[in-house]
Amino acid sequence: MPELADVAQRAENLRAQIQHHNRRYHELDDPEISDADYDALVRELRGLEEEFPELLTADSPTQQVGSAPSSLFAPVAHRQPMMSLDNAFSGEELEAWGARLERRLAAERGDDPDGAADGGMAVGFVCELKIDGVAMSIRYEGGRYHQAATRGDGRVGEDVTANVATLATVPKVLPDGAPGVLEVRGEVYMPVAAFEALNARQADAGARLFVNPRNSAAGSLRQKDPSITASRDLSWWSYQLGEVVGGPTFARHSETLTWLGELGLPVNPEIRVLSTLGEVQAFCRTWEQNRHDLPYEIDGVVVKVDDLATRDVLGATSKAPRWAIAYKFPPEERTTTLRDIAVSIGRTGKATPFAELEPVFVGGSTVGLATLHNEDQVRAKDVRPGDTVVVRKAGDVIPEVVGPVLAERPEGLPEWTFPTECPVCGEPLQRLEGEAATYCVNLGCPARRATAIEHFASRGAMDIEGFGEQTVRLFLEQGLLSDIGDIYTLDFDAVRGLEGFGETSVNNLRAAIEASKDRPLANLLVGLNIAHLGGAGSQVLARHFGHLDAVLAASEEEIAAVAGIGPIIAQSVHGFFSDEANRALVERLRAAGVNVTGPAAPSVPQTLEGRTIVVTGTLEGFSRDGAEEAVTSRGGKSPGSVSKKTTAVVVGESPGASKLTKAEELGIPILDEAGFVHLLETGELPG
Ligand code: IVH
Repeated sequence: MPELADVAQRAENLRAQIQHHNRRYHELDDPEISDADYDALVRELRGLEEEFPELLTADSPTQQVGSAPSSLFAPVAHRQPMMSLDNAFSGEELEAWGARLERRLAAERGDDPDGAADGGMAVGFVCELKIDGVAMSIRYEGGRYHQAATRGDGRVGEDVTANVATLATVPKVLPDGAPGVLEVRGEVYMPVAAFEALNARQADAGARLFVNPRNSAAGSLRQKDPSITASRDLSWWSYQLGEVVGGPTFARHSETLTWLGELGLPVNPEIRVLSTLGEVQAFCRTWEQNRHDLPYEIDGVVVKVDDLATRDVLGATSKAPRWAIAYKFPPEERTTTLRDIAVSIGRTGKATPFAELEPVFVGGSTVGLATLHNEDQVRAKDVRPGDTVVVRKAGDVIPEVVGPVLAERPEGLPEWTFPTECPVCGEPLQRLEGEAATYCVNLGCPARRATAIEHFASRGAMDIEGFGEQTVRLFLEQGLLSDIGDIYTLDFDAVRGLEGFGETSVNNLRAAIEASKDRPLANLLVGLNIAHLGGAGSQVLARHFGHLDAVLAASEEEIAAVAGIGPIIAQSVHGFFSDEANRALVERLRAAGVNVTGPAAPSVPQTLEGRTIVVTGTLEGFSRDGAEEAVTSRGGKSPGSVSKKTTAVVVGESPGASKLTKAEELGIPILDEAGFVHLLETGELPG
């Protein structure tokens, strides 16, 4: 057993830390630690206070909501307190909450035989998405927008009426029949697209980047000048009634939400009324998996008892109602130490900085490395080796270092500078005009060599089976290879002597190399590792020029004039083939018998020239690659995401929700499979 004095000391220490972080989060909008790390501190303190109740103090942060309001805005006393919610971090904790509800209600029924006779306490649940934004209370008087206040410490919030008035989704006038007083609670949030656009503007202006949509929303509300708030594209979801005078009476929370919707207040469409905790668990799991399909961020599900009389029976603690709980998703953001920043050299010679992190469990896996993309990104984020940094891993997205925790930065920590020499071959690194990337331009750089050969042999390029990373590294080490040209003059007798290479595997390798000579020109172009030129661009070039010699003879302008080829690719392709060493390499490949021709004239009518078609979900008559090929072979493009430039979105079975929503938002035509076939054949959009 630990000494009580030690426990008391730890509890005191936790309280001080939590109070500090409350202030950073609620008052300064500049949190130093992730929500998950904060939750861990609160859980530890709550655990200690439960085990040693004598340590519980009235002013403990476990007994309070948020933080005192700042002096920047006038105070607003909430007529009904704005409470916080208890959290459940697992299915078991959700079950335990349900069991507590049942016990309390059973006890109540025991006390009150009338209640039991009514049988009126069956628990039904309303499940709502837990919007990751800023809690707000908006007050209408006489049907008109009157006041907006932040939560503050739950009793007194801040008057942000002028700022919230700039939100287009917050009605300023309610329809006839609205009650004399209506206070609606909900969340001001920033849609992900607005957050990304805001950070792009910040980056252009050389200003500090916002860490996440929630912080951006909070920072955008905390402005003395409402025109700044107005420029930030904030939005609003209503989820709870506050004070209402002169309105209808309701038996259920779900009815209040319907009514709010009828009054023109935005209510989230994903809300569900469910009757069992099993269904609630399924709802939580579904959204845990699909959270990134939404155009705004959520960090959990809020489960509320639907029946309002039952809510009254359950009541509240000093901090949170007993009739609701927040089921929190596993964290996608954590803080950790940035040990160092290193630079890796890719197959095109691109030098990519990446973070070496103290490993941290985030977004469902342990993250020790994270890309920092390029020099400008490191500068914009201003992360330095030795910093405490916020690391984010959201869904399938690769882990990202969001930014430093400045308050934790050791004094005098030097800024990181991009190396001037390649860490592998020592030759100078170069950054081309107008490009964000830095390159090692030494074609002989060992780092480039290995990855370049692997890429040449990979499936999207020359597709040489059995010629993967390990084989390439082994052959390089043994001096059997030094560039892609050597593949076709490989000394198989020497290979036969290597460990792991028996007669059969040598014969297979020989056959695989032989077969690769017949790949079409587009595959060869992919395999050559020309910066910026990917599969789609290679297809376009091969189709347009039909023969490698025509590509070699083309000027930069001629290449740029090909539909689907932009100036950057044109410059890169032309530059590549102007290089003597690269030309010599190509000639060696040709001499070895590698095919240098492609489909000369388009074999199908170019119905989709200049068009961009996004395909989402499963189609009956096309594989994913097949659908893409159907578009590109007709001169169109088929990228993976929807943008303003998208001509149409083709929707199959189980489409991606985010693509659909985006298409709807942008008013882009949505086609089914029949419409797609019609479009391929005629180039016309149906209807
Ligand atoms: S109900 C007494 N519903 O989560 C009930 N809160 O951790 C109070 N939140 O302060 C809140 N989505 O900022 C409720 N659908 C939702 C919510 C939600 C997000 C936030 C809100 C609240 C915090 C509690």
